[in-house]
Amino acid sequence: MMSVHSHPKLCPSSPTSVTDLSQLLDACLENSLPRPALHVETLAEAASILRLNDLGSYTVPSRGLYPYQWNWDAALTAMGWAALDESRAFEELKALFSAQWEDGMVPHIVFHRACHTYFPGPEIWGTPEAPRGTTGITQPPVAVIAVRHIVENSMRKGRALEEARGLFGNLLRSHRWFYAARDPFNSGSVATLHPWESGMDNSAAWDKAMANVPVDDIPPYTRRDLGHVDASMRPQQAEYDRYLTLLYRFRELNYDPNQLYHVSPFRVTDLCTNSVLQRANYDLRWLAEELGFLESIPEIDNWLEKGHAAFEKLWDSSAGIFRSWDQITDQPLDAATSAGFLPLFARAATTEQAEKLVETLEKWMDNVNFGVPSLDPEEARFEPLRYWRGPVWVIVNYMIVDGLRHYGYDSLAERIETDTCDLVNTRGIHEYYDPITGAGAGGSHFSWTAAMCLAWLDKIPANSA
Ligand code: DGY
Repeated sequence: MMSVHSHPKLCPSSPTSVTDLSQLLDACLENSLPRPALHVETLAEAASILRLNDLGSYTVPSRGLYPYQWNWDAALTAMGWAALDESRAFEELKALFSAQWEDGMVPHIVFHRACHTYFPGPEIWGTPEAPRGTTGITQPPVAVIAVRHIVENSMRKGRALEEARGLFGNLLRSHRWFYAARDPFNSGSVATLHPWESGMDNSAAWDKAMANVPVDDIPPYTRRDLGHVDASMRPQQAEYDRYLTLLYRFRELNYDPNQLYHVSPFRVTDLCTNSVLQRANYDLRWLAEELGFLESIPEIDNWLEKGHAAFEKLWDSSAGIFRSWDQITDQPLDAATSAGFLPLFARAATTEQAEKLVETLEKWMDNVNFGVPSLDPEEARFEPLRYWRGPVWVIVNYMIVDGLRHYGYDSLAERIETDTCDLVNTRGIHEYYDPITGAGAGGSHFSWTAAMCLAWLDKIPANSA
């Protein structure tokens, strides 16, 4: 994936311990190779966090707070595992796809084994799929992107391609599911039916759409997230009541995708999901070519073509950013969020749109000390510590930087890389960060942030960060 991203050759990074890391850095010095901007201690911490959260064949995002396997966390975490142990990376993906539904959906959480620190667990979801419990909704399809990244960065490309061959059918079926279940009228963009599917649960982009979701008479419940993280960093109770309302309504219909699309009171075109899917289609096409699955290419090309055209409707030229769309009211959603820059990652922005996006992003960056905030810092709803309503997320920075480099905006990309390295080097590896103070927040010892250190930040040379 980073083929567009031409960093100078750095020290090899397959660290397993602080000792290995010191040796690697010594080797860099001896061979006059640039040192990574990431501190040796941060790399070591990243490696130890993946091992800490490793439950055998899958990795939990953060112990206690998120004790199961999450869909997009797993795929991004696999990219980190690949730097330490490539087989373990593929094992992570296989564990995720072992829970793929018959119809192709990859669920948003796989409940591999019981745990009582999370709500809502398998007994609340009550999904029909056996043998493993899962939720009945999905998440942004990062898996193909991760597979391509692992193959391209592999020291044993042939072997990595063989692993990819074993997953190709699952990956293709998961994309087919998105179009069949979430774009029945062939619009080119897919619908998201629950804020948890977007992965950006309490984004201000969902406020208007969530205001139209009634709160049903749902069974009383106790949130477990508040036992792990301060309430000021989490979604509000009114949002949780609606998350649960949607869950129970979907459960009532046995998660039948043919019905959910039509009856869900929340149905949006999410910029993150659609950008990830569009980018993943490019990477799926690449994989199909590498593996010789040429018969699937016309189908993927069709998705790419109609997907590309569908982004035009989401462009807000006066604000210089893309906006998610409420499919129920057929109106753009009002908040400008960091997902608005992800069409760069999807290669879906025109060169003029990319130029405008960069102007907007530079303005956002000037208003904070660490970019990229998840909501426009000039927005009244901006809250620097509350989950997706302001904090910096390292995985989003990764996608934005990849997009900026593709469009040739290297200095802005470097600025974001510098901020991101500063955050993890000086504040440790957290779920997210306050864009004003830099404080680490949310869950601690967080897998996907650790994975981004191992798969991305370790490749940034010290002189650019
Ligand atoms: C949670 O429970 O907070 C998760 O984000 C749902 O995916």
